[in-house]
Amino acid sequence: MKQIENGQDKMKTKIVKIDSNNIDTSLLTEAAGILKNGGLVAFPTETVYGLGADGLNEEAAKKIYAAKGRPSDNPLIVHIADFHGLEELTRECPDKGRKLAEAFWPGPLTLIFKKSSKVPLSTTGGLDTVAIRMPSHLIAYELIRTSGIYIAAPSANVSGRPSPTKAEHVIEDLDGKIDMIIDGGKVNIGLESTIVDVTSKIPVILRPGYITVDMIEKVIGRVDIDKAVFSGIQDANIRPKAPGMKYKHYAPKGDLTIYEGSSENVVKAINKITEEKLLLGYRVGIIATEETFPYYKKGNVKTIGTRKDENTIARGLFEVLRDFDSEGTDYIFTESFDNNHLGQAIMNRLLKAAGYHIEKV
Ligand code: TXA
Ligand code: MG
Repeated sequence: MKQIENGQDKMKTKIVKIDSNNIDTSLLTEAAGILKNGGLVAFPTETVYGLGADGLNEEAAKKIYAAKGRPSDNPLIVHIADFHGLEELTRECPDKGRKLAEAFWPGPLTLIFKKSSKVPLSTTGGLDTVAIRMPSHLIAYELIRTSGIYIAAPSANVSGRPSPTKAEHVIEDLDGKIDMIIDGGKVNIGLESTIVDVTSKIPVILRPGYITVDMIEKVIGRVDIDKAVFSGIQDANIRPKAPGMKYKHYAPKGDLTIYEGSSENVVKAINKITEEKLLLGYRVGIIATEETFPYYKKGNVKTIGTRKDENTIARGLFEVLRDFDSEGTDYIFTESFDNNHLGQAIMNRLLKAAGYHIEKV
């Protein structure tokens, strides 16, 4: 249904709650019907919420770009629910790719293959390759199975904003622009899937995520990491292989700076800069951890998790950035995290959100 509001075409978005432990099949069938008919449905996955459309329907895929305000050269991930999908969507399936799929699917890993002719260029942003993932979240998995289609789905945020980790975030960004939002509660992981390009002899990680380098190397031996993962977008000589990684991303409206150094020095430096900005009348937010929380004296201090379990940090990151946005925060100061295991993905997102602004103290 469409209605005209402020002279603009606005859609009525249906918002439904589905419990992943007890899936309401009639609601799921309704969502599947929308997708089959070329509509847009946002749904939870184990990583972040996705904005789904029929991946083999050129017009449906185009609607995703319009709703997100996404540049059309930024390709979409196609979500499948069985290995037949892998055969159908790819032209070649190298041994290492198959091994990774068998080891980590369903789960938070996206693999890049040479695409088959079935996949339209509007889905792949004009590329000859296709990104494929089999999600483990039961709602996502059952939605693909019930619809019987392959679901193209980027993160369900407006382009440039932090990825959504709960339905409220999707509503904030996409209400009135898509047909349906499935509220399945808060996601598990909180950071987008690891992306591995398996079209080269030595596979390359294009985006770090929950599936770490160590986990991948245990299955297939050496992998490389795309140089763009840790270098700034300012570096014109380094072109990321995942087109999406070149765009300004995850950026909060406030000015975000990362402080790196010993815990003591970081706390001291953040307390000092906070004091200065408060005196000038700015709203200041601090991203702290359970370990350091008591040491921040002023400003709006939020704990994202505990350093004893980096999963909690990953889960809290995008939410805290969005919360500071909705509170009109001018300056955000954050601690940094170890750059190994899951920390690699956390720092990759944090650096992008901060526009690579890092203070060593
Ligand atoms: O966890 C996830 O991956 C979530 C959930 C919804 O599955 N999806 C997601 O999609 O993060 P999106 O569109 O926000 O990020 C996809 C990334 C982009 O950086 C894009 O450029 C890259 O994947 N990508 C997609 N297809 C590609 C291809 N053929 N070659 C290289 N990079 C590709
Ligand atoms: Mg995204």
